[in-house]
Amino acid sequence: MATQTPDFMVIFVISSLGFISLCKPLLGFIKWVWAIFLRPPKNLRDHYGSWAIVTGCTDGIGKALAFQLASEGLNLLLVGRNPLKLEATADAIRERFGPQVETRNVVVDLAKTSGEEISKTMEGVIKGLDIGVLVNNAGLAYEGARFFHEVDSEVVEGIIKVNTEAATWITKAVVPVMAEKKKGAIVNMGSGSYGGFCSYPLYTIYAASKAYLTMFSRSINLEYKNTGIDIQCHIPLFVATKMAKFRRSSLFIRLAKPACGGLVTRSICVCLIGRILRSVWC
Ligand SMILES: NC(=O)c1ccc[n+]([C@@H]2O[C@H](COP(=O)([O-])OP(=O)(O)OC[C@H]3O[C@@H](n4cnc5c(N)ncnc54)[C@H](OP(=O)(O)O)[C@@H]3O)[C@@H](O)[C@H]2O)c1
Repeated sequence: MATQTPDFMVIFVISSLGFISLCKPLLGFIKWVWAIFLRPPKNLRDHYGSWAIVTGCTDGIGKALAFQLASEGLNLLLVGRNPLKLEATADAIRERFGPQVETRNVVVDLAKTSGEEISKTMEGVIKGLDIGVLVNNAGLAYEGARFFHEVDSEVVEGIIKVNTEAATWITKAVVPVMAEKKKGAIVNMGSGSYGGFCSYPLYTIYAASKAYLTMFSRSINLEYKNTGIDIQCHIPLFVATKMAKFRRSSLFIRLAKPACGGLVTRSICVCLIGRILRSVWC
């Protein structure tokens, strides 16, 4: 029996579709490498504005970010619940960067203040300031792994209020100001527990609060895409801080310090291992 040769057009269409479907992830990967490792950093002050707001700036990642932003010449609105720790942070920043970096402290307990009150307070303090950057970093987690029903009501309420509500209401106060001047950047501090890699049992409320922040950031970023406001959710994995209770850094645990040697290797390892775990577990 004579074999039929497939029609040239069919082969061409199938090969083209294959080629196009390969190009998409390849382009995505090239864009990712460019954005993460090669793209020169923006001058935040010129690009977005001269003041940055950092919540939860008295410790850990928030404190490191406040120092980093000050080193880039931004003035700081430091938001925290403990006036003494806020004053100590502001003093340390002044000591390191001198009078060219202005700081103002905003004392507010994000777990004990209503959303509208937080928003009103923020609207008041930012009046007249050229707000360029908002970092919604303040966050709470459990003291240790717990079944859902074992978590104290106060902790449940605190996590929901600080991790989700406070970030939402502070963003609500700041977005109109940024939209009016058509520039600004908002960074929400998510977490690897948000569900993108795998589920996070025994830290359910914390992980769910970070999933909220992830979706909040993605969606609001699209809403304001054409107004000059960039909104991102950062997804740190393990960082040695008071919350995470790690004391030292290792291959998979970063210190809460501005980027230092080994970052590229670690980031690649963490991304690859994250992807492998995701494909195995999810
Ligand atoms: N460390 C990690 O491995 C890790 C990983 C992924 C994501 N994250 C996220 O990164 C962010 C910072 O975490 P971190 O590890 O740097 O924790 P941290 O060292 O415990 O710092 C948390 C900061 O939030 C402040 N804060 C807590 N409750 C507050 C409240 N009710 N009102 C106002 N401020 C409050 C703390 O203030 P005080 O100084 O007064 O306590 C502190 O400044 C969090 O959103 C966390 O979920 C951390």
